[in-house]
Amino acid sequence: MKVLGIETSCDETGIAIYDSDAGLLADALYSQIEIHAKYGGVIPELASRDHIRKALPLISQVLAQAQLKPEDIDGVAYTAGPGLVGALLVGASIGRALGMGWGVPTLGIHHMEGHLLAPMLEDTPPEFPFVALLVSGGHTQLVKVMGIGEYTLLGESLDDAAGEAFDKVGKMLGLEYPGGPNLAKLAEKGIPGRFSFPRPMTNRPGLDFSFSGLKTSVRNTIAQCREPAEGKQGEGEQGPIGEKEDRRVLDQQTKADIAQAFEDAVASTLAIKCRRALQQTGFKTLVIAGGVSANLHLRSVLEATVQKLDSKLFYAQPKYCTDNGAMIAYAGCQRIQAGQRDDLAIRAQPRWSLETLTPLNR
Ligand code: KG4
Ligand code: ZN
Repeated sequence: MKVLGIETSCDETGIAIYDSDAGLLADALYSQIEIHAKYGGVIPELASRDHIRKALPLISQVLAQAQLKPEDIDGVAYTAGPGLVGALLVGASIGRALGMGWGVPTLGIHHMEGHLLAPMLEDTPPEFPFVALLVSGGHTQLVKVMGIGEYTLLGESLDDAAGEAFDKVGKMLGLEYPGGPNLAKLAEKGIPGRFSFPRPMTNRPGLDFSFSGLKTSVRNTIAQCREPAEGKQGEGEQGPIGEKEDRRVLDQQTKADIAQAFEDAVASTLAIKCRRALQQTGFKTLVIAGGVSANLHLRSVLEATVQKLDSKLFYAQPKYCTDNGAMIAYAGCQRIQAGQRDDLAIRAQPRWSLETLTPLNR
């Protein structure tokens, strides 16, 4: 069975074709980073309009890449939520219309289930059951996974998501949007040990997270480290949004040292909770997914954590950690093959709990 996957929940148009026998046949991605970078974050209306421009040409592109015709497609899967409603509606309308036009089953997919299953695209996929750490721009969740659609939320962020914290701290350090990958690059040049930030909510039981205090702590450190810009008016860093602009400067090494310490605080906090989740469930497999799972420091800290627990760590290759069409095509293929399909409604659910999904085999 060949399924076309369409992802348009935020600022990436991702299209792919997954075959239940041959695996991933074609995959294309268009990132809107350049459109949003000048605003320092995603502008929802611009995102929707750009998905409209890119989705159909990318669908033609993946069909050509896979040397397939529309009549070769057996099902269409699109991201139905969570995400930006306008952006979701573009993929949902196109997916639903193509499914109807081609006369094939069509299904709305949960974006976070797509992320959670992305490591299944790798040569050595994880086996159920496992603990999944989902770390994206909108979510930080620990999930007990018994099978496809069998998800129990063990803990989640009470405020900012991990990716959001990376993006905001990146902005404080004067880095371009998206802050996450840019901060990770800067952190490589940082000297460990100069700064140390708190590991929020790790000294009390439970599996929830909170990153807003950590962000404040970084903001205070940045303010303390800034030096007057000698006669160079206007070259200081941009103050955090809503605050008076601070025109004092931060030297490059200090920026890198702060980035390193922040990244380490996030990675250690996530690792402490992952260890607890593995101990609590007794599972021996940890899967990390979502944009922040591309972070190399996080991967190495978690690798050390699972080793101590005689467990294994699984993740997708970087391009399938961040938003992509392949994960939606994969999840859609599993579900459509099991007989699941939607009615003719165009589904777009900006908020949608993973726990409400239908298990695959029921
Ligand atoms: O999963 P994703 O592409 O989109 C959402 O579903 O939100 O995740 C995007 C998030 C952004 O916050 C981005 O800054 C972060 O993932 N991210 C990273 C890295 N690559 C992407 N954060 C830290 N290190 C990275 N290498
Ligand atoms: Zn995502």
